Amino acid sequence: MATTTSSLSNPPVIEHPSSGFTPAGTPRSEAAGRHLWGHFTQQSQWERGVVPTIVRGEGVYFWDSAGRKIFDGLSGLFTVQVGHGRAELAEAAARQAGKLGFFPVWGYAHEPAIDLAEQLANAAPGALNHVFYTTGGSEAVETAYKLAKHYWGLVGKPNKTKVISRDGAYHGTTHGALSLTRIASYQQPFEPLVPGVTQVANTNIYRAEAKYWNDPEAFGRAAADTIEQRILEEGADTVAAFFVEPVQNSGGCFVPPPGYFARIREICDRYDVLLVSDEVICSYGRTGGLFAYEDLGYEPDIVTSSKGLASGYVPIGAVLVSDRVYEPYRKPGVYFPHGYTFAGNPVAAAVALENLAIFEREGLVDRVRENGPIFAETLNKLRDIPFVGDIRGAGYFYGIELTRDPETREHFTEQEADRIRAYLNPALYEAGLYCRADDRGDVVLQLAPPLISGPREFDEIEGILRHVLGTIAREL
Ligand SMILES: Cc1ncc(COP(=O)(O)O)c(C=O)c1O
Repeated sequence: MATTTSSLSNPPVIEHPSSGFTPAGTPRSEAAGRHLWGHFTQQSQWERGVVPTIVRGEGVYFWDSAGRKIFDGLSGLFTVQVGHGRAELAEAAARQAGKLGFFPVWGYAHEPAIDLAEQLANAAPGALNHVFYTTGGSEAVETAYKLAKHYWGLVGKPNKTKVISRDGAYHGTTHGALSLTRIASYQQPFEPLVPGVTQVANTNIYRAEAKYWNDPEAFGRAAADTIEQRILEEGADTVAAFFVEPVQNSGGCFVPPPGYFARIREICDRYDVLLVSDEVICSYGRTGGLFAYEDLGYEPDIVTSSKGLASGYVPIGAVLVSDRVYEPYRKPGVYFPHGYTFAGNPVAAAVALENLAIFEREGLVDRVRENGPIFAETLNKLRDIPFVGDIRGAGYFYGIELTRDPETREHFTEQEADRIRAYLNPALYEAGLYCRADDRGDVVLQLAPPLISGPREFDEIEGILRHVLGTIAREL
């Protein structure tokens, strides 16, 4: 761990020297400020030359332009399941690019797309047997949204067009997916959005009424019942689908209470509403199984997935569709009028196949199932630090919520929360850990290490967190 001189009132300023020169001879930090538009990024910082530039990665670490070695506590963006620098994935990409670098799956198929679709269908429990590729998570959600509407039209219920998602959820940024994303600051600049989307409660039991704190079953029932109420208010004959993450990321790892998903499945069946499991983060081992719904014991009608499918080495997403939803598309003359040029790209599919082969060879699913409780136990040691309120999550996906008074769960004032946030991310980075403080609600630190991590890496994470959270505890 690096030694630090910063304090809460004096957050570290991380220097980011230019990472060499572009082929045109411009210092890269300058070229980035002028030409590269970062996503969810304040360009003014980059224009001032503050461009955090990551140079290479190996295993659970990456190195930046200053030569700092940083633990990747977020797997890039919940993505690099097998770790950085895997030669097998590079070789799989090169092999496939040399054989067939591109062909669309529009009317034609190719070998990697077929092989991966079969493998995903075989791996997904239940009737999720049909794979529609995308290039990422937003497109997967967009696809599921359009598919739900189209499906109901095909089966003679064209009025079923409305969709429901949960409070604070993040489902992506394209217009349809953004309409399901229930984060006001992301939505407002783009209104009007797609009409007919409403929201229901999420499963943030930590911030629920105190009567639920020790009764997760009752909380889960109440949360699930808000879905039934909403379907009835909207009119069941107008509701197409309910979108839900197995463990909601935005807001900080809201795990489902016991019985929650069984009740949701029941409600969706009763009112003929498709259950869409948005597993863009949770699938491919992040919370345990290859698909999160398996661990949580429910069967969705549609699964959206992406991030971990190729460990982020190439862009790819996959929507898994049940036999029931696929059925009307088997009729001659019927097709889903939707697609993306690059979806299911042969190189991407080949890398995903190799990524899943690594999962198999290295037993990553079992590893997460076995080590997940150790990760939880290690993080729970931090509870002796004042302000550590809640530690929650599943598998290798955890959130640590900081709060003014863990006893009463009193929130920080806005000013305190801003101070902590301004300190946390640079202080963690300075100390050698990349992860992030969610800025979409209470102060929650999000952790999602590569699945190749184990107890040694958990201890490293805990040590850095102890150092940085300890500073907050001493100085706030
Ligand atoms: C649950 C969920 N759905 C959808 C998305 C959108 O994925 P992408 O950024 O690949 O478009 C994300 C991204 O973080 C996500 O977490």
